[in-house]
Amino acid sequence: MEAVDANRISRGSYIVRCIGCGATAGDLAPDFRCKRCGELLEVNFPWSGDDDFHADRLKAIWRERRTSNQALDSSGVWRFREVLPELDDWSSAITMREGNTPVYDLPRCARAAGVDHLRAKHQGMNPTGSFKDTGMTVAISFARQNNFHWVACASTGNTSASMAAYAARGAMRSLVIIPEGKIAWGKLSQSLDYGALTCQLRTDFDGCVRVLNDIIRRYPIYLLNSVNPYRLEGQKTAAIELLEQLDWRVPDHVVVPGGNLGNNSALGKAFLEMKRLGFVDSVPKISVIQAEGANPLYRTVHEKAGKELVPVEAETLATAIRIGNPASWRKSLAVLQATNGCVEQVSEAEIAVAKTEIGADGIGCEPASAVTLAGLKKLVLSGFISRSESVVLILTGHVLKDPEYTINFHRGELSVPRMADAEFQSLTKLQQRAPVVLDASADAVLGALQAHEKAERHG
Ligand code: F0G
Repeated sequence: MEAVDANRISRGSYIVRCIGCGATAGDLAPDFRCKRCGELLEVNFPWSGDDDFHADRLKAIWRERRTSNQALDSSGVWRFREVLPELDDWSSAITMREGNTPVYDLPRCARAAGVDHLRAKHQGMNPTGSFKDTGMTVAISFARQNNFHWVACASTGNTSASMAAYAARGAMRSLVIIPEGKIAWGKLSQSLDYGALTCQLRTDFDGCVRVLNDIIRRYPIYLLNSVNPYRLEGQKTAAIELLEQLDWRVPDHVVVPGGNLGNNSALGKAFLEMKRLGFVDSVPKISVIQAEGANPLYRTVHEKAGKELVPVEAETLATAIRIGNPASWRKSLAVLQATNGCVEQVSEAEIAVAKTEIGADGIGCEPASAVTLAGLKKLVLSGFISRSESVVLILTGHVLKDPEYTINFHRGELSVPRMADAEFQSLTKLQQRAPVVLDASADAVLGALQAHEKAERHG
């Protein structure tokens, strides 16, 4: 292959623009909202069919970087830096070699969902166990470039874990604002170990966002929630990496969990940009799945035809997506429209069952990620996705993030909101695999093994 010189590639300058009124932002406000109309901002690249951006050249460069030992090249985010906002000094990026996450076949899940073939891109295989790392590396690098000492986020647990780790790597201080009692233990323990100042507020995620917005107006702290447009630029690289992993063959559908609605917006932006740059000639339909108890986008689409947000009082054991007033709902709707995707909601029992099915494929994920498989089943039943179409689920968080949920589920002790315990148990009993406590004898263990085989034969 012809040698490629990455230095000859021009890195597009970028502008930050309001998604509402279209105004170009100069100095960004601390809350990353348009100073004129209050809407969210977005990074835009004034690409023009410039030959430097020839798709084949960039594909070759990105592929070649995978064999490099340079930190920036071995990051699954910065490897794609030609389509990212440019840092003053690339070598100042704070990276933990994030991205580079695997795409797995899920044969059992495919059977359960009624499709011929199913794949998952597991973003839980990032350094802190969730997709947040891909956005964090970019946004925190801009925080440092802008000389901030403090960074902060309101979080349902994964953003805070990621931010705390990256802040520590960048020798910055981090302030974590989380709802008390509604964070999975894995995530809370991460932010403690990474040294964040962790504040558990007596409110929900949406209340935490309100408090943090007040704080950033009163103190020089860099906001790392997904309203920060640099976060979404980093997160979009998962879509580019996915296309690369599929040899640039576009899947028919990508299914994403929806919480604050930044991630599906970021992935959609990347697919559309890849099409615009000629890397691919179509985009996948992006569908967003929410928990029934935290379904503001679902209700916005079905009750208000997408015209105005229907905020909800969120309640779900998939705590990562326990969000009632999502910041990026307009961006998300634009992606649904541009890609002809749809939004679906799933019950607590459907989430729990799907989580065990993803586990039984030897992969596993946290509850919020399992909404994707649960949603896929419904989209197949409704005819939106047909059996022979290619589907990729985006699994957003690692199975070890929320072991309490998993253990309580298998012990038959999970109590979910919005459903009577007896009903939940009857819907999920078949999937429960409680540990068996036995005397320390081979006979006892072999007896359990035989009973298990017999149950499987009859099941
Ligand atoms: N899956 C997981 C595991 C998450 O942690 C989140 C969001 C989502 C899905 C939803 O992504 O918000 O971009 O629509 N977690 C945020 C947090 C809110 O604070 O960790 P989204």
